[in-house]
Amino acid sequence: MAPRKIIIDTDPGQDDAVAILLALASPEEIDVLGITAVAGNVPLELTAKNARIVCELAGHTHVPVYAGCDRPLNRPLVTAEHVHGKTGLDGPVLPDPEMPLADGHAVDFIIDTLRAHEPGTVTLCPLGPLTNIASAFQKAPDIVDRVQEIVLMGGAYFEVGNITPAAEFNIYVDPVAADIVFKSGIHVVVIPLDVTHDALVTKHRNDAFRALDSKVGHAVAEMTDFFERFDIEKYGSEGAPLHDPCVTAYLIRPELFSGRHINVQIETQSELTMGMTVADWWRVTDHPPNAMFIGEIDADGFFALLTERLARL
Ligand code: BDR
Ligand code: CA
Repeated sequence: MAPRKIIIDTDPGQDDAVAILLALASPEEIDVLGITAVAGNVPLELTAKNARIVCELAGHTHVPVYAGCDRPLNRPLVTAEHVHGKTGLDGPVLPDPEMPLADGHAVDFIIDTLRAHEPGTVTLCPLGPLTNIASAFQKAPDIVDRVQEIVLMGGAYFEVGNITPAAEFNIYVDPVAADIVFKSGIHVVVIPLDVTHDALVTKHRNDAFRALDSKVGHAVAEMTDFFERFDIEKYGSEGAPLHDPCVTAYLIRPELFSGRHINVQIETQSELTMGMTVADWWRVTDHPPNAMFIGEIDADGFFALLTERLARL
């Protein structure tokens, strides 16, 4: 089967970085048409820089990286340096990128790419706030029908929230954008905190990255070493949750995941529960399903896949 064409929309972030590395290490399954940076974990200038640092770490400098929206549609930007550090990629010492940003705006790249390919052949993979994606849909509504699928990391049901008691970070930062995406009619695969909080980098799993004894293996181990301090303190968990790589793993090995086809709506009005993903997990309404909401991951299978693929870089 031909590799699946994707655009990675991202706010790196250590876990975004690992998601990008996994995609670039898997050319048989995934063809990365481009990477679009958005403001999220850190401001846009840093996410656009970090995306290029990661491409260079992988030795894939041919992948175009575009800078996109520097703030949410109608709210001030909220960032997460308390999790990811000042640079967003704290942990390893990596050189500043030499590859330039691609010319043009990320939103236009998303629009042009969807128009240039056969309808139903390009998948969008958002790993951060949904500002770039929603902006593209607002600017060029004709592209909505051309999207094959959206596979995103965001939201929560059983785990509820990580940035507020009610909301997950990516959805909370730009709830209006998320609302546009979930109402778009496009099939959305949602990988929520319920799943990513099971994808924990335990010591044993991190040792396996380090044991690759490559530039990439050491960088990933150092990223998760940094990232885990926050989660161990907050949740008492065994290590850092690798949220965003679950998206790329889903594209490669969907059988590692299972979920329910349900209705998901986004809270955009209440300040108390802003950005909550109201997921009808128990199917208590007759609202039509608009999303495959993932509930379980085979974590051992996921880490085996990740380690095997990172070894290729
Ligand atoms: C999400 O928020 C970010 O901090 C991570 O990169 C991930 O995309 C988890 O809530
Ligand atoms: Ca992210």
